Amino acid sequence: MCGIVGYVGHRDVVPILLEGLTRLEYRGYDSAGVAVVDRGGSVGIRRAAGKLVNLKTELADDPLAGAYGIGHTRWATHGKPTTENAHPHQDAAGRIALVHNGIIENFLELRSGLEERGVEFVSETDTEVIVHLVSSYYEGDLAAAVRRTLDDLEGIYAIVVASADEPDKLVTARQGPPIVVGLGENENFIASDVPPVMGYTRDVVFLDDGQLAVVTPDEVTIQDGAGNAVEAVAQRVTWDPVTAEKGGFKHFMLKEIHEQPTAIRDSLIGRVNRHTGQIDLGELNLDEDLANSMSELLLLGCGTSWHAALVGKYWIEKLAGVPVKVDHASEFRYRDPLVADGAVACAITQSGETADTLAATREAKDRGAKLWTICNVVGSMATRISDGVLLTQAGPEIGVASTKAFTTQLTCLYLIALKLAELRGRLSREAIELRLHNLARLPGQIEGIVAQADKIDEVARRVQHFKQFLFIGRGLLYPIALEGALKLKEISYIHAHGYPAGEMKHGPIALIDDGVPIVALAPQSDLYEKTASNMQEAKARDGFILAVATEGDENLADFSDELLSIPDCLPEFAPLLASVPLQLLSYYVAVRLGCDVDQPRNLAKSVTVE
Ligand code: AGP
Repeated sequence: MCGIVGYVGHRDVVPILLEGLTRLEYRGYDSAGVAVVDRGGSVGIRRAAGKLVNLKTELADDPLAGAYGIGHTRWATHGKPTTENAHPHQDAAGRIALVHNGIIENFLELRSGLEERGVEFVSETDTEVIVHLVSSYYEGDLAAAVRRTLDDLEGIYAIVVASADEPDKLVTARQGPPIVVGLGENENFIASDVPPVMGYTRDVVFLDDGQLAVVTPDEVTIQDGAGNAVEAVAQRVTWDPVTAEKGGFKHFMLKEIHEQPTAIRDSLIGRVNRHTGQIDLGELNLDEDLANSMSELLLLGCGTSWHAALVGKYWIEKLAGVPVKVDHASEFRYRDPLVADGAVACAITQSGETADTLAATREAKDRGAKLWTICNVVGSMATRISDGVLLTQAGPEIGVASTKAFTTQLTCLYLIALKLAELRGRLSREAIELRLHNLARLPGQIEGIVAQADKIDEVARRVQHFKQFLFIGRGLLYPIALEGALKLKEISYIHAHGYPAGEMKHGPIALIDDGVPIVALAPQSDLYEKTASNMQEAKARDGFILAVATEGDENLADFSDELLSIPDCLPEFAPLLASVPLQLLSYYVAVRLGCDVDQPRNLAKSVTVE
């Protein structure tokens, strides 16, 4: 949650901080602030509640200039999103400023200890204790004071600290949320994620948990948790910075929906050869021994990533015959789970930094499982704690609502299912080739669905006034019903519920009347007739039916009020195709309702706290 930036170098710092915060606003957007140390050695702070634009206005009215500084965009955990609670926070003397991403669990205890020593607090945040502790330990060495402070903290944090008494120096540390240090020429950058530094440098160092870095214009020195020097290992980021911009689209979400054909192609390139049926998932470290000795696969994720896991279960059990358990990461970590000998646990996470998913996979590892990660962010924590990694190659996903990350997660899960099936001798070479051939058609088919955007917008116009929706599907389409409902509620704030179509008559059918539209996922499959019956039951109760069906299906048109079509495909691939019209439907409903599509209320892109 929260985005943090820092800069030390030869340029005017404020524009760099603001630009960086703009690129991180997806991480939190209920207040923002900057602290800058000027050449005279005094700290200037500007903060504003609400979106970043308010801080920009504040700075236009009351400018700051300086040589080094820090910035923050907040997703509130402790204390309301007010200016007083906005970061940076300062010590009583106004000499030290600090930004923080995370939660300090023992802050009440620390706060009373400080108050007993006469420290006065001016905010409700947990963060403020950190800056007062640094100040209390400061004896002319900022890094040493920060190191001592970290020993007192329980919880998770990424922090950046500046002191007016140690010019041209920033100290940063992490335990949980990410810190990226961008390496420039006579300048260096700190950020929560790669986009803010990409305009200046492609060489970055990802700090590890427990590490602390001292960053000056010419040097980055890193210490481990015990204070020992650690070599800074730089990685080169290969993303195209333009992919992190809106590129002419009104919203990132719309752009990212359109990018799905490319993202899926990129996730397949170098991994499959549809002419020879070869599948190469090298980085996953999956060989014949593991495929045949694996007792079960545990798929762990949150939100959309959990929905991807549900689809993965159908594929992997059917094609490869490996038992799959799917868990909400937030439940798994606390329920004393049974992990069989020979289990593999796989985290599914776009960001690679979701706190619940990281904790769940660590729990699985502690219980003896081998760890895999399907992840979109190179160098993220999830990729670093895993024995095998499959990168989704979606490129940066900025919109809070996950779209291309989801369909590339599905693509990777399907590849794992096929590879396991091959290694376990469950599918012939011809059967694999047939599937790879059809997989390669998906990007083109998705382009065809995206081209129906105007028609979907028109359907959105018709349904935007409804106050609640039911999404139904069976088999592989049930998780897509869940995902469709999640997309609609998170960006349009309309209540939506996903349900297995066959369960309707066990309760939810009581909801149906002419005020409750049913979005029914009914492309051709062996469950088609059954879903069609469920739709007719809903129609008989005056429900408004919006069907997602295979192109040319005349049958469903008879009892559907609206029909969106997806191309004919192997039924196995319907989840990938059916997701796309639902993403567009949610998008257009939200736009029509005037919602903030890319930054919906109360949410943040990366949930680095529990
Ligand atoms: C969905 O649109 C959300 N962005 C959310 O459910 C997300 O999938 C979840 O928070 C997990 O994030 P992760 O994939 O980065 O771990």
